[in-house]
Amino acid sequence: MNGREIARMDSITPLFTEEQIAERVSALAAEISADYAGCEKLHIICVLKGSTLFTSDLLRRITVPTELHFVRICSYAGTQSTGVLRIQYSDVPDLRDQHALIVEDIIDTGRTLHLLTVLYKEKAPASLRVCTLLDKPSRRVVQLTPEYIGFTIPDRFVIGYGMDYDEAYRGLPYIGELHS
Ligand code: IMP
Ligand code: MG
Repeated sequence: MNGREIARMDSITPLFTEEQIAERVSALAAEISADYAGCEKLHIICVLKGSTLFTSDLLRRITVPTELHFVRICSYAGTQSTGVLRIQYSDVPDLRDQHALIVEDIIDTGRTLHLLTVLYKEKAPASLRVCTLLDKPSRRVVQLTPEYIGFTIPDRFVIGYGMDYDEAYRGLPYIGELHS
């Protein structure tokens, strides 16, 4: 168990080390920088809170000019098992004729990204793409294929590098599978 989470009794199996994450983030940033070469400005939309660490590392390595924005989605569990998603906070500007890249920590059912892509496409951006650090395609409910994927993983619950379990573990520098 990591000393930062001494209050918890969960066990964690490491999946990706700090070095593996850094290497993959650099490769993604290089790919994004090449794809948007010559672009006047790329709007980076960080989906709070999980993708903050990923976004900050990615942003530092992207070489085209960027503007950083945040959006926070919250889910209200209704009478159905699927919660209703709502935007709780956003500083995303008018994206008309602008290039935008949504940055997520992990895509699971695809519902969050589906909501965001539908919403932002209405703003008529010049382009809209999705970059996710992790993808769990076997869990997909809404079809969605991100343009940039860090790692594809099986159906496991993961924590660390921004991702949480009940708000814990976001500060872990590596990504692990949580067995509670
Ligand atoms: P989706 O809308 O089902 O695609 O998932 C949206 C959000 O659920 C992700 O952005 C994460 O914040 C959270 N999530 C999904 N799977 C995991 C996981 O394995 N660990 C931590 N958070 C997760
Ligand atoms: Mg997320």
